[in-house]
Amino acid sequence: MSGLLRIQLRPQASGLLRASESGRASFAHVAKAVASIGELSGARMCNIAKKNLGPRRRFDYFSRGIATKKEVTLTSEMYPETKRNPAFKKITTDDIDFFKKALGDKQVITDVEELEKYNVDWMAKYRGQSRVALRPKTVQEVSKVVKYCNENMIAIVPQGGNTGLVGGSVPVFDEVVISVANMNKVRSFDETSGILKLDAGVIMEDADNFLAKKGHIFPLDLGAKGSCFVGGNVATNAGGVRLLRYGSLHGSVLGLEAVLPDGTIYDSMHSLRKDNTGYDLKQLFIGSEGTLGIITGISILCPGRPKFSNVAFLGLDSYEKVQQTFKAARSELCEVLSAFEFMDRRSEVFSSRLLGRAHPLAGEDVDVDSLKGNYAASVPEYPFYVLIEVAGSSKEHDDEKLESFLENVMESGEVSDGTVSQDEAQMAELWEWRESISMAAKIDGGVYKYDVSLPQSKIYDLVNTVREHLTEKDLLSATDKSKPIVDVIGYGHIGDGNLHLNVCVREYSKVVEEALEPYVYEQVQKYHGSISAEHGLGFQKKHAIQYTKNPVELHLIRDMKKHFDPKGIMNPYKYV
Ligand code: FAD
Ligand code: MLT
Ligand code: ZN
Repeated sequence: MSGLLRIQLRPQASGLLRASESGRASFAHVAKAVASIGELSGARMCNIAKKNLGPRRRFDYFSRGIATKKEVTLTSEMYPETKRNPAFKKITTDDIDFFKKALGDKQVITDVEELEKYNVDWMAKYRGQSRVALRPKTVQEVSKVVKYCNENMIAIVPQGGNTGLVGGSVPVFDEVVISVANMNKVRSFDETSGILKLDAGVIMEDADNFLAKKGHIFPLDLGAKGSCFVGGNVATNAGGVRLLRYGSLHGSVLGLEAVLPDGTIYDSMHSLRKDNTGYDLKQLFIGSEGTLGIITGISILCPGRPKFSNVAFLGLDSYEKVQQTFKAARSELCEVLSAFEFMDRRSEVFSSRLLGRAHPLAGEDVDVDSLKGNYAASVPEYPFYVLIEVAGSSKEHDDEKLESFLENVMESGEVSDGTVSQDEAQMAELWEWRESISMAAKIDGGVYKYDVSLPQSKIYDLVNTVREHLTEKDLLSATDKSKPIVDVIGYGHIGDGNLHLNVCVREYSKVVEEALEPYVYEQVQKYHGSISAEHGLGFQKKHAIQYTKNPVELHLIRDMKKHFDPKGIMNPYKYV
């Protein structure tokens, strides 16, 4: 990536700070060298070639799918052991007439082509057979149709931006999809308290853009921000890349509005920071994945927006060094640390294939033309990469902190190579080398995703163990197309103890799935980890909840579901 400030190692004796765009080769062999990210202010005066990069949102995760939605196998065929509950009513023309009367003709989707986007998930792994999707505009309309469904034993799938990664957002059989896409207004914002009240169908990035104008930030950020809805975020208790800084939605969501399975409107949209009267019911909906009701409104606390941010992208020689670097970042960058993400080299190889450009740490000796499109060859041999974001209110102070941190980690040998962004476009580009992994992982046909919490020291062991396991089973080859698996990659939110283990396949198949499950879950259980750190249970992990929750917990969860939804109409075949 030309134009990025390259971190340079230079002999200790001289001043540490020097801007450089020189390649890794020029310093990698300097013994006892000292890290330098350059005199940052001076560096920014360099003549940096600005690239025509769009903001993060423009990375269109949906247009680069590998399979057309029609090619996706029906969930009911892929998983014939899951049977349709015969107690659920099949939709009739009378039902459609009722929905049209309640919502207006245009908000009742029955066209087969149009229904595809409601039936097929983002991974192109699950495909339902819903014959109708509803798009109510108000909470009263949601209530009306949900009440009708409950009375008539019609199963429902609540849907947001349909970016979920566990098959929770699409029907398994012919459940009615209720999308909150038409409920997409900001209701109010209090500039003093930072409390935002909004409809569940607001796209997360739109919420953040609204807040940016007010000097605030949405306390959550993730790769699907341009497509996912805030209601979906709350329903999945999404974590994302800034949880490290802003904490979980269990802390920032102050209130909710939701339609319960019998049509009752539950409203706790108040904006109280403190309220110790009775059970904190809203918490139940956070992470309930559409099984307790349809979230229609959210009240959320939004912190002040940092004025400056910067991103460093580093190459490291071992997973131990990743951990050491995280420890150092937490203690040295402290209050300005806003993200610490890690990815293995294999993940970066996938990203390079998707993005179609040379890696940010490719040496200057790499001649992009000679790669002839083989951008994977530009990814340096470091087994691990780390993206660090700092954000604060004083540029000089933040830069100084980042600079001193980078000096220390390079001096101590924890970090071997790196680059620092010099403007927003470069920041966005560096982020792409992390966030594009989700999409890139399915570039060869599909991806089995495992999103686990583990003790930090054990995180990468799981990737190696699973790779060995699949190799022993003779299922894996990067080049032999007769093998179903292309590679096993690992990346994630290391600061949160959250690994994304992705098994990249040429196609979805039972052979691979049976090799992976319950094997992966057993490995996670061994370390008392969680089989779902952030994506949820959905359809994929419904049967595996017991690897993380004990029988008492399971009993209470099932009781809770029965209490809220005795007929079981809300997102059946998922979660519990
Ligand atoms: P959907 O996919 O539509 O639904 C997800 C679940 O919530 C379903 O069970 C659905 O029934 C339920 N649901 C949706 N809306 C409602 C509602 N209004 N009321 C009740 N239930 C509802 N997740 C993370 O945690 N961290 C990440 O870093 C992250 N990065 C991602 C990056 C990419 C590229 C993609 C594709 C996904 C990523 N995800 C991540 C997955 C994540 O779950 C979603 O992106 C997001 O939170 C889901 O929102 P959505 O509106 O798309 O919900
Ligand atoms: C991420 O952190 O990139 C997301 O959780 C999505 C994924 O795992 O691909
Ligand atoms: Zn994640």
